[in-house]
Amino acid sequence: MEQQILEIDCADWHVATPDNAWIAALEAGKVLYFPRLAFDLMQDERRFLSPTILDPKSRNISLNADGVIKGVLGDAADQAAMAAMVGRFRVQARQLIESLLPAYSAIVRLAPTSYRPMQVETRAQSWRADDKRMHVDAFPSRPNYGERILRVFANLNPDGVPRVWRVGEPFEDVAKRFLPQVKAYSRWQARVLKAAHVTKSLRSEYDHLMLQLHDSMKSDMEYQRSGPQVTMPFAASSVWVCFSDQTPHAVMSGQYMMEQTLHLPAANQYDSNASPLAILTRLTGHSLI
Ligand code: SIN
Ligand code: FE
Repeated sequence: MEQQILEIDCADWHVATPDNAWIAALEAGKVLYFPRLAFDLMQDERRFLSPTILDPKSRNISLNADGVIKGVLGDAADQAAMAAMVGRFRVQARQLIESLLPAYSAIVRLAPTSYRPMQVETRAQSWRADDKRMHVDAFPSRPNYGERILRVFANLNPDGVPRVWRVGEPFEDVAKRFLPQVKAYSRWQARVLKAAHVTKSLRSEYDHLMLQLHDSMKSDMEYQRSGPQVTMPFAASSVWVCFSDQTPHAVMSGQYMMEQTLHLPAANQYDSNASPLAILTRLTGHSLI
């Protein structure tokens, strides 16, 4: 398998000299890895490096677009300090994307920013929710009609512990492998799901296929074991970026990570033919949205 990770030697959230080859690599589904770029904590934020700060009722701590912080145990001062820390990451993640990919600047839509203080290894989940299995991201309840899922991750681990991922084969290979076995799309069923409020809008054929790929990958233990993949330890105090709807990924271990999702219309990529929507449309031979 060709190299799926591209290392970029840049230590600043503002990338002074972005390279077109990095953009092409990202849009081809590779992970851009910044081993020298760190999200720095202030002295009094170090107390947040503990899973006890997370409300047990929440999966992650998250900062909404309107600045409301959720999932934090603690008093008003703790809540405000956490919102400031996660908000600072949001600003830096945005700065990174705007300087690296200037054409995305005006059109990306920010999702909530999340802080994940839990240890990955000890988390028990159903197979479908288990991100220790390789998958491409697809959301069951929120159809996105091909809109891209661009993610910026930062490992904040204070003890030098990497966040270990597995990164899989190119999206087109995944699609060619699993499309022949996926369930056909049913518009009637999509209508039922919407009427029952399982989905927030009508699930398109694109969204159906992406979910089928997600599930086919996760449920195939032989593929999980011996499908094309590389194990990649993202070092403590490093940052990485990928299109998680395109890059097959799994998280195996690690603790303390920041994550920012940015949504981007597929048509506004530098090369819209590289998107999962374009690839699946080509492979199926008909329009999917
Ligand atoms: C995922 O997006 O599947 C999880 C990534 C992580 O927690 O490192
Ligand atoms: Fe994922």
